[in-house]
Amino acid sequence: MYFNLSRSFVIKGHICHTPEAGRLEIRENAFAVCEEGICRGIFDEFPERFRNLEMIDCSGELILPGMTDLHIHAPQFAYRGTGMDYELLDWLDQVAFPEESRYADTAYAEAAYRIFARKMKQSATTRAVIFGTIHTESTLILMNKMEETGLVSFVGKVSMDRNSPPELTEQNAREAAKEERRFITESIKAGYRRTKPVVTPRFVPSCTQELMAELGKIRREYGLPVQSHLSENPGEIELVAELEPEAAFYGDAYDRYGLFGRDGNTVMAHCVYSSPEEIQRIKANGVWVAHCPSSNMNIASGIAPVRRYLEQGIRIGLGTDVAGGTSESMFRAVTDAIQVSKLYWRLVDRTAKPLTFPESFYLATKGGGAFFGKAGSFEEGYAFDAVVLDDSVEPSARPLPVRDRLERAFYLQLDRQGITMKIADGQIII
Ligand code: GUN
Ligand code: FE
Repeated sequence: MYFNLSRSFVIKGHICHTPEAGRLEIRENAFAVCEEGICRGIFDEFPERFRNLEMIDCSGELILPGMTDLHIHAPQFAYRGTGMDYELLDWLDQVAFPEESRYADTAYAEAAYRIFARKMKQSATTRAVIFGTIHTESTLILMNKMEETGLVSFVGKVSMDRNSPPELTEQNAREAAKEERRFITESIKAGYRRTKPVVTPRFVPSCTQELMAELGKIRREYGLPVQSHLSENPGEIELVAELEPEAAFYGDAYDRYGLFGRDGNTVMAHCVYSSPEEIQRIKANGVWVAHCPSSNMNIASGIAPVRRYLEQGIRIGLGTDVAGGTSESMFRAVTDAIQVSKLYWRLVDRTAKPLTFPESFYLATKGGGAFFGKAGSFEEGYAFDAVVLDDSVEPSARPLPVRDRLERAFYLQLDRQGITMKIADGQIII
């Protein structure tokens, strides 16, 4: 399947990455070295000590780190771009839940996840944190398809045992926990190299305290990461306050059960309305925020204060949140994040400077990549994830500097037609 089994090569082109938030480093006609899947750095001259490695010449093309999508729902992919005239809770009832119910049928899952996996493979994303549905068999099918793409991903069987339609409500916390253990055991048994399970309470309104307690135990027992949703929409937050009066704030309802960072990785999507106490806990517990601007616009959730999160040193990356978000394109997520931050600055808080392109690029690469360890940068020791882009698919009469070519490629979404090669964890997958 792969044509470079050693995961070792030298690649030449215009190398662009952000070793720090906001510091875009561009090395023109430079050489990046990948040795057994690990980046050995960027060199201006051909590095003689690596002369035995295969040389891949992409001169003139842009080479960027692969993007990390910190939050996407695979079963919602089938209806992306439809059903947008709702807010979150109605959208779940009217649009998301009916579609997710279909995944009880493994034949449907097989067909739908084949399409999803193909699109993920063609995208600029090399790493993703993915929601499935409550259905174990279908979610295992999703894992199988993701493993075949060559992307690196965490995939979660969703847990939910209340406030949901009967066909999407697990019988009780004990049964749901049993099913979660079966999912984890089966997915480990499959021996995937790149696809791992993640504990996935959907969100507080759909999980009883008993279920959260079980999931907290399971997470610790297997040493797994956690993904969920947090403080996305005002109606949702009110509902959580009613359902969980003992929790000091929304995020505390996860933290009480060991599902909110501390000794394990956790990513929470949205955090649009996190209170100062919640932000403090996110930071103290090292929870990742997945900022999902397209979704926040489509289902009218609001604008997350990303500048504040960056200033406070909170771990943060970007998510597409399909199908709240329209597209799996992380290029689009990068420009959406910049655009909503400009509206936030202009209309909400004139002290919250808009995101710059290098800052948003950082969030999509090294920011979110950190959830997987050392990923999202061409620094020495990082996992080698790269996207090679031929931006001449969109011609320009004016000769452009590489910095402008890069920014233009994002705004014009050249990840649709311009990707000529994609490398994930040192493996060439396109
Ligand atoms: N909160 C709970 N479930 C969902 C979902 O599927 N999408 C989004 N955007 N928010 C959620
Ligand atoms: Fe989501």
